[in-house]
Amino acid sequence: MHMACYFRRSIASKLSRALGRSEDAFISALCAIPVSKKQQSPDFRLSVNTLLRNGILPTNGDLQAQTEALASQLKQDSVVEEIFAGRGVIHFRVSRNLLVQKVLEQLCQERHKFGVKSELFDGLKKGTTVVEFSSPNIAKKFHAGHLRSTIIGNFIANLKESLGNNVIRVNYLGDWGMQFGLLGAGFQLFGCQEKLKKNPLQHLFDVYVQVNKEAENNEVIGQAAREFFRRLEQQEHQALLLWKQFREITVEEYQQVYKRLGVHFDIYSGESFHQQQAQEVVQQLQRRGLLKTTEKGTGVVDLSSAGDMSSYSTVLRSDGTSLYITRDLAAAIDRKERYNFDEMIYVTDKSQGIHFQQLFQILLAMGHSWAERCQHVPFGLVQGMKTRLGEVVFLEDVLDEARARMLRNMSQSKTTKEMVYPEDTAEKVGISALIVQVNKFDPTLKNMTYQPNILFFKLTYLLYETKNKQRDFKGPLGSDYKFDWDRILQAQGDTGVFLQYTHARLCSLIHRYGDGEEGAFDPSLLLDQRSISILQHLLRYDEVLYQSVQDLQPKHLVNFLMTLSHLAASAHRELPVKGSPQAVAQARLRLFGGVCTVLANGMKILGITPVEKM
Ligand code: ARG
Repeated sequence: MHMACYFRRSIASKLSRALGRSEDAFISALCAIPVSKKQQSPDFRLSVNTLLRNGILPTNGDLQAQTEALASQLKQDSVVEEIFAGRGVIHFRVSRNLLVQKVLEQLCQERHKFGVKSELFDGLKKGTTVVEFSSPNIAKKFHAGHLRSTIIGNFIANLKESLGNNVIRVNYLGDWGMQFGLLGAGFQLFGCQEKLKKNPLQHLFDVYVQVNKEAENNEVIGQAAREFFRRLEQQEHQALLLWKQFREITVEEYQQVYKRLGVHFDIYSGESFHQQQAQEVVQQLQRRGLLKTTEKGTGVVDLSSAGDMSSYSTVLRSDGTSLYITRDLAAAIDRKERYNFDEMIYVTDKSQGIHFQQLFQILLAMGHSWAERCQHVPFGLVQGMKTRLGEVVFLEDVLDEARARMLRNMSQSKTTKEMVYPEDTAEKVGISALIVQVNKFDPTLKNMTYQPNILFFKLTYLLYETKNKQRDFKGPLGSDYKFDWDRILQAQGDTGVFLQYTHARLCSLIHRYGDGEEGAFDPSLLLDQRSISILQHLLRYDEVLYQSVQDLQPKHLVNFLMTLSHLAASAHRELPVKGSPQAVAQARLRLFGGVCTVLANGMKILGITPVEKM
């Protein structure tokens, strides 16, 4: 059942009476006004342009005249106390008492469902959503792109799930291809089972680096690699056994990292699963007359509109083996058959944009109209992410570093609470700093090139996005800006640590004095500007989720939570519970309890585990 915003409904009903349309026609044209530091603001605004666009008002009149005429037609009452025209918009100010009462009532009733049951989501289909994310390559370490895909994909999956979709989280491992030929050949030369058991990823990485270097000036290696991969493709037992071992070991290691990040998958699939099906796809393409054979003997699909091969995709090598895109075609078809999804979302860096465009295009050409409901969510990465031996940093090390630094900061802070497992808290808070850092930025930044063949990242460049960072933090200009631990781990400023700190402070307040939910509370005790601003801000929560699900960008939610935390921090300073008359304390606790709930809800969608003490 949806929950109507009491105020949006009453404003919509006025509009409905004035313009003779159903209330629903106005709901999406109304929005809660962001709070402003400088002045008191009204609560909602209606965009008259939206009414014009939706054909509710005639488009031939003067916009301002129409706005004013409409505003004067609407009568204020005890719910909507003030209505006035701005430039192309109409502002509404609702009763302060009712604002306090209705928002807190709704919070108390809905708790972790607050916002997600909003009528704004009525029009969205709630179906099965496949989200494919993270998808690292076996035997290689995670790189910054995989970290970003993991964090953004997890956010998308959480968001879709909280809005009532059945979400299937898929990790599509890069577990097949020529690199296994190289790795297999390399392992036969430089590998050591002992080391593999002790420190698997490190060892495979070392072998991979060594064999790559060797292959540069030794042709025999290249031959051995091709030979090993051919054995794999022909399912030869010994080769397959080694490959399986690499895969299992790597997945186990990844799972530990995912656990630390608070991420899980419903399915670990991978390219290797679709090797056979890829051959069937090629046959289907052939049957449909979509496959062309080139002079070189490769199989291609013409993607040009003129049919002149000005754009095409290779789906078959001359030796008959499949390619990345062939396996992706098979995987998509297989998932549709298995899960009958309503939509599928792939999260990778934007260098794969064309790949996914071609993938969807070929699926459509094959008659799979559901490819219309497949989507690639791209994100940009850092320019010039270079690796030099010795400067490679692995994800585990980044997480360890975040934890160690956080632990140190906590032990130096006077406000830190006694804790049974400080490492555990430091881990969660450190990771939330990374998550916020990743999510704060627009994933599709322009002018970011990314070289996908660069596997490893330098810590100094991790998550470093020049443009926004400079705007955000007024950091030094120029490209040698360094990834700065101190900056992302600050307790003040727009960091994940700040969100956690605010949440923990609210929890400890509630822990000590209760959440004010028992017994009646008097709304008239929360009419001060700080309380009102918080409640006005909470009115926007469903809209922020709505925006997020439209463009799948986490920044809306991050910004909302930052503002909420800033508002809560100053309210916490200015509106004491301790020493206030019982009724006042009760009302304030109720407000703080509500903020704490929404903060925790939002953090969880971002993939952050809120801590109660720090
Ligand atoms: N393993 C790939 C990489 O690391 C990403 C896979 C993306 N997903 C897909 N269905 N192609 O670049």
